[in-house]
Amino acid sequence: MAQQPIKQILSLIQPTGDIHLGNYLGAVKNWREIQDIHPCFFGVADLHAMTMPYNSKKLREATWKMVYQLLAAGIKKENLFVQSLIPEHMELCWILSSVCSYGELSRMVQFKDKSNYIRESGGKDEMISAALFFYPVLQAADILVYKADHVPVGKDQEQHLELARSVAQRFNNAYNVSYFEPPQPLYTEVPKVLSLADPNKKMSKSLGEKHVLNVFGDPGRLKKQINSAVTDSGEVDSDEMSPGVANLFQILQVSGDHEAYDRLTADYKNDQLMYSDLKQAVSQSLLAFLEPIQARYQEITQDKRKYRDEVKESSREIRKKAQQTLREVREITGIQNVKY
Ligand code: TRP
Repeated sequence: MAQQPIKQILSLIQPTGDIHLGNYLGAVKNWREIQDIHPCFFGVADLHAMTMPYNSKKLREATWKMVYQLLAAGIKKENLFVQSLIPEHMELCWILSSVCSYGELSRMVQFKDKSNYIRESGGKDEMISAALFFYPVLQAADILVYKADHVPVGKDQEQHLELARSVAQRFNNAYNVSYFEPPQPLYTEVPKVLSLADPNKKMSKSLGEKHVLNVFGDPGRLKKQINSAVTDSGEVDSDEMSPGVANLFQILQVSGDHEAYDRLTADYKNDQLMYSDLKQAVSQSLLAFLEPIQARYQEITQDKRKYRDEVKESSREIRKKAQQTLREVREITGIQNVKY
């Protein structure tokens, strides 16, 4: 497939608490690498966090914690912004909502899943916020406000990206312009990390704390989690490696101890693998891999104020692009111009 040259990459992550290994390998590590090659903006999506019930004080804390963790993971400060510091995202969201239909938004899988979840836990329709319904419109605005052409996301965001593409096209048609270019998703080859406690499921915060390996977590606790990882699939006589064991091998591989990986793979093939050896190797390799990121986080959190000011400053810079877009969009759509 012929790829367009990349002009602007953009992606956001919700402030969900600590970054876990699945987030890190699935998104953040890739962000860190592509920012050396292409112009990138990365944001903390605190406005998206308002689509489900939340606590205001915790949201603000979680937002800055995510900023510090992204910096610790190597995201450059000048590429980083906090979504709510750039109100143009909300403005563009409203304008784009006029080219979105009730029908298509009701068909979004994530909206259906989350609203069903609210209903199943006893909530009435009145508990499902209109913000949840608007979630994909805000996401389209996040992308289009910077005219981003490439968006690194996981496969779960495919439908949202598709919506952003049709919104861009429909806006152009509605106003007879060729203003927005439909953004392309950038699906990168990423290892799917499974829960160690239940290796039939993807590592995810929503399963509960014990299911995730916290990148910024206490090494002692991480070690314990690895030692108690489920290895047995419960199936006897299976020739295939159980998901739990395969997951441990994968973590060993991505965390970089290739020597141990080769040695233990050979043991497995000869039917000589001791799970305790595998777990010990995973612990060692993963802790060594996380050590520099954790050390950097310690440094950053000693001086939070400085880093917060820096990211406020970069948000101000990045905002200028968003303001330029809104100036043009106000012109195109016939609403009044304001001074930005
Ligand atoms: N919905 C995305 C997720 O949950 C986060 C997100 C918000 C996003 N706005 C975005 C991703 C814009 C890419 C582009 O992962």
